[in-house]
Formats: sequence, C-alpha cells, structure tokens
Amino acid sequence: MTSNRRISILAAAAALVAGPALADDVVTVGLIVPMTGQQATTGKQEQAGANLYIQLHGDTVAGKKIVLEVKDDAGAPDVTKRLAQDLIANDNAKALMGFGLTPLALAVAPVATEAKVPEIVTAAATAMITEKSPYIVRTSFTLPQAAAPMAQWCLKNAIHKVVTLVADYGPGNDAEKWFGDVFEKGGGQIVEKIRTPLKAPDFAPFLQRVKDDAPEALFVFLPSGQGAAFMKEFAERGLDKSGVRLIATGDVTDDDQLADMGDAALGVVTTHHYSAAHDSPENKAFVAAFEKANAGMRPNFMAVAAYDGMALLYQALDKTKGATDGDALIAAMKGMSWTSPRGPVSIDPDTRDIVQNIYVRKVEKVDGALYNVEFDAIPAVKDPYKAAKQ
Ligand code: DHB
Repeated sequence: MTSNRRISILAAAAALVAGPALADDVVTVGLIVPMTGQQATTGKQEQAGANLYIQLHGDTVAGKKIVLEVKDDAGAPDVTKRLAQDLIANDNAKALMGFGLTPLALAVAPVATEAKVPEIVTAAATAMITEKSPYIVRTSFTLPQAAAPMAQWCLKNAIHKVVTLVADYGPGNDAEKWFGDVFEKGGGQIVEKIRTPLKAPDFAPFLQRVKDDAPEALFVFLPSGQGAAFMKEFAERGLDKSGVRLIATGDVTDDDQLADMGDAALGVVTTHHYSAAHDSPENKAFVAAFEKANAGMRPNFMAVAAYDGMALLYQALDKTKGATDGDALIAAMKGMSWTSPRGPVSIDPDTRDIVQNIYVRKVEKVDGALYNVEFDAIPAVKDPYKAAKQ
C-alpha cells in the first residue's frame, strides 16, 4: 500500500469516529407550510417561529441534533401529502410540523398514522383535525375555542343582533356554528349567515348585504392573511362609520398585518390566544428576539404556535431520553405543560389539543402602532367541540 493511500484510509477512519453527527444522532423535523401563494405569510411566520426556538435553545436535545427541513406546499393538499411521504421515506423525518390550512393538515393524517410519525399541527384550526389520527398533536388553537368566548362577550355587552361572515371551509364553519350556537342559546339573534370563498374573495358584495341587514355587530372569521383586504373594504364601504360594530376572532386583526390596517381597525374587539402585546416577561423576550432575528417583523399567532411546536418536541425528546419512536413521543406529549409567550399552555391528554387562555382584546394604538391590547382573559380553555362530546 502506498503511503498516500494509507493516509487517506486513516483519514476516512478518523472521520467515521469523530466526524459529523451519525444518522442516529440526527432528528430531522419536516416543517411543511405554504411559503408561496395566498397563505405565504403563514409559512414565513411559522419558519421564523421554529427557527427562533432552535436559535434560543440550541440545536441539540437529549444528545440528538435537531435539523429543520422547511418545505413549501404552496397551499396544495396533494403537494403537502407528497412532501410528508418524501420527508419520512427519504429524509427519515421523525416529526412533521406546520400545515397552514385545514385541508393540508387533513391530507397528512393518513401518512402520520401509517408511518407512526407525530404530526404537530401548528397552524390549521378546524376542531376535528386531531380526531383524524392518533399521531396528531396541536399547538395552534381551535375555532370553537376562540369563537365561543366572543359570543359570551357580546351577550355580556348588550349586543343582540349579529350577522356572521366566515370563510367557507372547515374553520369558518366551526366559527359560524360555535359563535352562533352560544349566542342564540344566550338569547342573541343571528340575522344572516354569510360565507365567503376561501380563494381570492371579493368582500364588496357581501359587505353590501351586511349594510342592508344593519345588525348591531358583524362577527367575522377569515384565515390569517385576509384581514387587511377585508378591513380596507369594510372602511371603503363606510361600514366603520355606519354603527355596525366589527367583532372577530383574532385571525382578522392578525399581528402580521395589523400595522397596515389603518384607523378603521381601531376599537375592533376580538377573542384569541395570542397577541404580540401580551404582557408577560416571556412574551416581551420572545417578541424582542423575534423582531431582532427577522428585520423587525412582528410575530403573529402562527409564529408562536410554531415556536411552541418546537418547544413541545424538545420537551418530549427530553422525556424519552432521545428516543424517536412515534408512540413514545406522542405519549410524552400528552399532558405536557409549559409557559408559552401566550401564557400557560398544556396538551389535553384525551384530545391532544392545546389548552390555553383565550383573551378578549381591543385594537388600540400603542406608541403610534396598532396592537391587540388584551383586557380580559378566560383561563385554560379546552376545545369546546370535543368537551361537548366527552
Ligand atoms: C386556518 C387557517 C388560518 O390561517 C387561520 O387563521 C385559522 C385556521 C385553517 O385553515 O384551519
């Protein structure tokens, strides 16, 4: 053997011993989100939230190196499903995260079940999603969780006649039903139920109907990213000055878009689980670090859910001492509790949904910028859709 050859064999052997992390020491996490298309802001916020968790907590946990693979599904369920299959088969992914819309989360449920890989839903919010696979855990929220408290607030504040306007798919149907049922049970009247298309909605004709109905309030659910266009149309139709009070889930006064909504958004009351203005030391540190890492971008509820998705996975890996078996990880996640930037949270061991405070907020100017300022809180809210079935 030539001495050159001997040296290269020795070098190769040394690299094997001391070299880059062995495949067994790496935990690949697939973050599948829309980075392009109508829901691109969700992808941008989710990626930044997950990356910030790794930046602040290090990329190793229980002896494993965490590698985040971000994939763009452009909001198409068939693409989401194929990406999930590829991540598991080719990248040996041990957890999947993200899912910017309900149909995208649903497309992956059978893949998660078959491969026994945790599907951590950090965006989609139709209540029934977690029922579609025992491997689904959710750190975002559910629409019944956010919408039912809005109805209670109306009943307490002498609002009796409401029109509802929701995006016409899973979470919109949940919002319409849970706002409407709680409101009517408490003596309120739903004057009309309006549904708008999910894709590229033109709100003008729907808002004309609201004007004609002249209710005391208009309750709205639209997915993250549509709030600014809606608010613009609401103001252009003169509805902000018509005496119709705008109320919504916090998806509409989304922190990602709120700064650009203008004064038409002032005074809008919403119920939601996260505001960038949440007053806690954990949130102040989170917002400051997030803005620093992302050129001043303000985190929204998608960012915090992805941050918490990583928090949940890290804690589960700690508990399993680095074991990545899907059943062990899901068992570790059930009942897990921690302090999120949004406040105290836990994973309901029966439903694998997040239990969290729902805050009542009003859009106000703080130091010249619009924020959802919290003024009341309902503690430890479970998803009411599943609580009603138990
Ligand atoms: C869903 C998407 C959103 O952007 C949102 O704010 C709430 C729910 C969804 O598709 O489930």
